[in-house]
Amino acid sequence: MKNVVWANGVLRTENEPVITAFNHGFTVGDGIFETIGVRNGRPFALSRHLARLQYSAERMGMRVIDKAQIHDGVAAVMSEGSGQLTRLRVTVTSGPGPMGTLRGTADPTVVVVGGDPPPPRTCHAVRAPWKRNERSAITGIKTTSYAENVVLATYADSKGADEAILSNTHGHLCEGTSTNIFMEMGGEIVTPPLASGCLPGIVRGLALEWGARAGIPVRVAAPGELAMAVLDEVASGVAFAAVTSAVRGVQMISKLDGAPVLTGPMLKALSELFESNAAVDPDPAPPRGNSG
Ligand SMILES: Cc1ncc(COP(=O)(O)O)c(C=O)c1O
Repeated sequence: MKNVVWANGVLRTENEPVITAFNHGFTVGDGIFETIGVRNGRPFALSRHLARLQYSAERMGMRVIDKAQIHDGVAAVMSEGSGQLTRLRVTVTSGPGPMGTLRGTADPTVVVVGGDPPPPRTCHAVRAPWKRNERSAITGIKTTSYAENVVLATYADSKGADEAILSNTHGHLCEGTSTNIFMEMGGEIVTPPLASGCLPGIVRGLALEWGARAGIPVRVAAPGELAMAVLDEVASGVAFAAVTSAVRGVQMISKLDGAPVLTGPMLKALSELFESNAAVDPDPAPPRGNSG
């Protein structure tokens, strides 16, 4: 399956140029994006992804996104992909800009692509030697300024892993380069709060909502409750961990720092619940508030 590309209203060939050399997304990473899983031939949780894209635009001080235009792009890519895509990516940049850092006034660049790289089946995680800055201007925004995550993912890859887990500057457990993290410990499941500096993940939010609704004890930790050191308890088999993302769903960490670790029964139940709910509710309504 080739990749499918739609940019600024038109389907393109895979290698056709879609931005100029002055695009501010290209020069300084002045853009936002969403990665959307395709499940049963439909983009999963599209309304929630577009709500988060709007949130990212507001936090970045970018123009309000044109949801109808993005819906058009998603529909065109899905149709061209003829049932073979496993993920979509929507990227919006502030468009062509000046050579400096301050953005210009051009129309945004909107690109939707679809492809089918297979997601890993389980997560092989390593602890990262760097920290997430929970007080950065772009904390919690899904921005294309992702070089930090590229360095981290490259580090994980160099260790034979596919995800790197970060603490924040206080040494609290935060998230992975492209995932949120859930811990099973003491008879419940807990995930770091947004105050830790993690992204408000779509699957994180749904796992919290759907888990609680089904009676699984799952909650957001209080700020500072989860130290990075809780991962020692995963290594020693006392606790268990899973990561979440649009591409992975709720996925067990099966190796930590190169050593096999056990699967938590409650996390496994949460993962199965997520899969079965996602199959019957492909576009859950966005929540009214945020999920801590
Ligand atoms: C830094 C980061 N955290 C968490 C996630 C998981 O978010 P979602 O569940 O919306 O895919 C992502 C997704 O790419 C991410 O980049």
